[in-house]
Amino acid sequence: MRLRRKLVLGAVLIVTGLALSAGGCALQRLPNVPREITSPAASPPVLAAFRSDPAVQTQQDWQNRRAPLLKARFQSEIYGAMPAPAGYEIVCREVLQTPEKGAIGTIEQITIALKTAQTGPWKNGHPVVDLILMTPKGKGPFPVIAGGTFCGNNVLLPKQQGMRTTNMPLPQECGGDAPEFLIKAIFGLHANSPPWETLAEKGYAVASWHPGDVVPDVPLVAEPYLQALTPVGTPPAQRTGAITAWAWTSSRMVDVLSADPRLDPARVMLWGHSRHGKAALLSAAFDPRPAAVWALQSGTAGAALGRDDVGEPVADITASFPHWFAPSYRAYAGKPADLDVDQHQLIALIAPRPVLIGTGRRDQWGDPHGSFRALKGADPVYQLFGAPAFTQTKLREPDGKGVLAFYMRPGLHGIHTEDWDEALAFFDRTVPKATTK
Ligand code: GCU
Repeated sequence: MRLRRKLVLGAVLIVTGLALSAGGCALQRLPNVPREITSPAASPPVLAAFRSDPAVQTQQDWQNRRAPLLKARFQSEIYGAMPAPAGYEIVCREVLQTPEKGAIGTIEQITIALKTAQTGPWKNGHPVVDLILMTPKGKGPFPVIAGGTFCGNNVLLPKQQGMRTTNMPLPQECGGDAPEFLIKAIFGLHANSPPWETLAEKGYAVASWHPGDVVPDVPLVAEPYLQALTPVGTPPAQRTGAITAWAWTSSRMVDVLSADPRLDPARVMLWGHSRHGKAALLSAAFDPRPAAVWALQSGTAGAALGRDDVGEPVADITASFPHWFAPSYRAYAGKPADLDVDQHQLIALIAPRPVLIGTGRRDQWGDPHGSFRALKGADPVYQLFGAPAFTQTKLREPDGKGVLAFYMRPGLHGIHTEDWDEALAFFDRTVPKATTK
C-alpha cells in the first residue's frame, strides 16, 4: 500500500479509535517529540565558505555571490529548474459572494491564464488557475494572505454556487467520500478552508488557488506537465519538480495580487501547509516580493533539515512523491548527508523577511526539531541584514520577539484554529502596517 494511503488510513484509524474510546485517550498513544533539542547545529554553517565561494562577510557577498549559488544548488540537487515568469492574462472575474452581514466584503473567482514558455498538456496548451479572493469590507489597500489549496477550490467553500471545479486529476486522498466532520476531526477545523470571517474582521484579504491546476499532484500523471514547464536546455536530472512548479504558481499569483488596487503589494504574505508549506518557502526564497511566509508542518524539503534524515527520510519522500522533485534528489536516498545544501540555507534566502514555522508535538514525520534547528541555522544571515536574532531556546516557548519565529502546538498533522491565531499574531507583529498605494 502506498505511503500516503497508509498515512490517511492511520489517521482514520486514530480518529475512529478516538471516537470509540473514552474521550480522546487514543491520541496519547502517539509520542510527543522530545522537549529538549540535543541534535547538532545545522550544517554547513550558513556564512562559511561553500563550494568555491569564500566565507560571506557582508550583505553584498550574500546577495551577489552566495544567494545565486545556493539557488542553483537547490534547483540542481532537490527541486529542479525554476521556470521563468512569462506573464498572465485575466480571463474572467466573477463575484461569488457579497454578504450583507459580517466583515467579508466580497469573495470573487478570478480566472487566470498563465503564460508558459512552451505549450503543454493543459487544455488550450497553457495552465488556467482560478484564484479565489476574499476582500474585507472597508477601505483598502488590504494586506493579503495567499496560499494553495489541497483538493481543489471547492473545498474552500463547499456549498458555494458558481465555483468552478478543477478538471485536473486529484490525489487519492481527495477522492474519498470522507464526510466533512471526519476531515475536520482528523486534520483540524481549517484543514480545507481558512477562517474567512476572522481574517476579514482583522482586515486581511485572503487569496487561495489550487496548485494542482498547474501540475496535478499525482505521480504518474504529473510528468508531461513538468516537462512542459522545464526550461529548454535543462539537464533531464534537473527537470522542474512539482514543488517548484507550485512555487512558480505562487509567484504568478503574487503578480496578479500585486496589480490589484484593493490590495497592498508590500503586504502579500505567503502561507502553506505541509507540501504547500514546502512550496511557499521555495517561492519566497526565489521571489523577493512576498512580505512574509508562514510554513506549517512543511517537514522534509520544507523547513526541516534534511541531511540527517530525521523525520521523513529522503528515500521515502522521493519514492512516494517522485514528481515533487528533480530526479537528481533521488540520488541522495539513504545518504542525504552527501547533499551539500540544507534547508536552513533555503530559509536564509528569504532574509530579512519574516518567517514563521509551525509544527505539531506529535508530528514526528514533520520533524519539529529539524525545523527549529533550521531557523537557528538561518539566523546569522538575518543578523547580517540587521534583523533581531532568533533567541528562542525551547521548542514549546515562543519568545514572540524575532522575525524568525517557531511554535509547536499540541497534536498531529493538520490546520487548527490555534495555527491561524499564531499566524495572525505573527503577521500583525512583523509586517509593517504602512501602505504603499
Ligand atoms: C505526506 C508527505 C509529506 C507532506 C505531507 C502533506 O505526509 O510525506 O512530505 O508534507 O504528505 O503534504 O500533507
